[in-house]
Amino acid sequence: MGYVLSNRRVILGVTGGIAAYKAAELVRSLTKAGAQVQVVLSEAAKAFVTPLTLQALSGHPVRDSLLDPEAEAGMGHIELARWAELILIAPATADCMARLAAGRGDDLLTTLVLATPAPVHIAPAMNQQMWAQASTQANLATLIQRGITVHGPDAGEQACGDVGLGRMRQPEALQSAIEDALAPRLFEGKRVVITAGPTREAIDPVRYLSNHSSGKMGYALACAARDAGARVTLISGPTALAMPEGVTGVSVTSAEDMLHAALGNIECDLFVGCAAVSDYRPRLVAEQKLKKGQQDLSQIELIENPDILAQVASHAQRPKVVIGFAAETHQALAHARDKLSRKQLDAILVNEVGDGQAFGQDDNRLHWCDAQQTLDLGQASKIVLAQKILSTLQEHFPL
Ligand code: PMT
Repeated sequence: MGYVLSNRRVILGVTGGIAAYKAAELVRSLTKAGAQVQVVLSEAAKAFVTPLTLQALSGHPVRDSLLDPEAEAGMGHIELARWAELILIAPATADCMARLAAGRGDDLLTTLVLATPAPVHIAPAMNQQMWAQASTQANLATLIQRGITVHGPDAGEQACGDVGLGRMRQPEALQSAIEDALAPRLFEGKRVVITAGPTREAIDPVRYLSNHSSGKMGYALACAARDAGARVTLISGPTALAMPEGVTGVSVTSAEDMLHAALGNIECDLFVGCAAVSDYRPRLVAEQKLKKGQQDLSQIELIENPDILAQVASHAQRPKVVIGFAAETHQALAHARDKLSRKQLDAILVNEVGDGQAFGQDDNRLHWCDAQQTLDLGQASKIVLAQKILSTLQEHFPL
């Protein structure tokens, strides 16, 4: 991929942490690969690395002030934000993440992030305790939800002597991530429809049947497909998650609503059924709250819900590729293979559930099954697995 960076325009933001010294190596290797790099330093970063070093390595004056008339006369900050094809902040401190999450624009770097149409990547680096703090994790979730790509941090021994997650990802790995991000995108222009979350099947105005799906797996897939250039529609049952930016959201409640939304969006290249659809619903929905003692609540007659995925896969306007998930507590692969053929899917992702696995978790373990093979995609965060699903898909069922 050596050619990808040739003449590509990258802003490298550096904030104030001990890992800032690695920025020099990053600038050197990015420019060596042909990129044009403009470095923007935060005030605190200057205590760790000198502007002169980065200027010499990048071949451009280093910018560090929002209100510098001389620099603005050359290339104003809005122009600089438009110039960039990608902004990478490495290292990104906990403070930097908090400021980005809050949408601050009171220094040059945060203003550029607000003003750029380019993708923004960050490589966090901080003490492991700071990384684990609920506030940092909440900021991380906000940044990911807004489409910022996060690299690392890695685990290991830290400058302060602690051991844990918080080391900045190595410059070599960051460079290859930037090459991937600037390479032509896998699903550019493709239309992807994903179902996510649970469905709720009303019993009466206050009660319903449902399951423990949080929507995290399906939302991670929507973000990954969006980042790969797809136009994404996410049909979501009720979840506590915010609709990712850049994704068209359709909120539904019941399996029948979800079916209606799926058929209304059938014109797509890829359909992914990740939702945990209730297989059954009450035959009758009481108009008023059922009263204990007045009605027999121990017996609720259920009828089968439509199979959304099977209907999409057998539809006259079948999307080019249809994949599903199988949530199994035992004999997972055998049951998944049965669903693969019964629902006429191209592939199915298999996760074992129960015992606190998969449902509601940030991590998952998945196997990919299609007619030819079974692949172990491993145990990883749902975000990483979503990217693996899309690259496996592109390899075996190119859109
Ligand atoms: O949401 P999370 O908390 O992140 O958890 C993720 C997950 C465990 C929900 C997800 O990884 C997953 O396994 N989703 C599918 C859950 C499920 O309902 O599996 P199933 O084996 O019952 O159904 C098989 C497939 O048919 C699924 O793709 C399902 O969307 C689809 N289906 C099922 C029933 C139905 N009536 N219509 C359907 O389309």
